[in-house]
Amino acid sequence: MERKALFAGSFDPLTNGHLNIIERAAAMYDSLTVAVVVNPQKTGFFTVDERVEIAGEVTGHIPNVRIDSFSGLLADYVNENGFAAVVRGLRDTADFLNEFQMAQMNALLYTEGTETVFLMTDPKCSFISSSIVREVAALGGDISGLIHPYTAARIRDKLKER
Ligand code: COA
Repeated sequence: MERKALFAGSFDPLTNGHLNIIERAAAMYDSLTVAVVVNPQKTGFFTVDERVEIAGEVTGHIPNVRIDSFSGLLADYVNENGFAAVVRGLRDTADFLNEFQMAQMNALLYTEGTETVFLMTDPKCSFISSSIVREVAALGGDISGLIHPYTAARIRDKLKER
């Protein structure tokens, strides 16, 4: 039976920190779905379709990665798709506190015994977040070490549109 895992997030945009988790998780499972979570309350920097497209472009070298998006409860999406694991990245203790609460809540909602699996971030990526990348880019700083060159180009284009 195929062992499928999920890595979900807002990915606005997907950073090298996310990519590091994706590469490692994809090596652990038969397939890894990277899913953009649609939050109707939040206007993103990139649209959901753009985030999906960027995620597909920067993970194109990993054959067992699929890209998707969903709205609503993560546990519903997990139960409908039969994921064996939901992978999360941990950067620091603040992440741990949030992740611990979400994992415990989700454990009550999963119907197929899905496990939450935590991967420690690569130390080179522990300070990266999507919003810090966006902020530095908007103020003209160098973000080349933090995101894929394709994503950097898409951010520059988006900033020019504004
Ligand atoms: N490397 C770099 N950055 C990372 C990272 C990593 N490994 N892991 C997380 N981040 C950053 C993200 O870039 C994001 O940065 P930002 O705040 O600057 O945009 C921030 O950490 C939050 O990560 P993200 O994955 O976008 O969202 P989240 O971790 O807060 O939420 C969801 C995770 C989307 C899966 C969760 O909110 C969810 O399940 N939503 C669906 C609704 C639901 O089921 N709610 C009940 C949950 S119990």
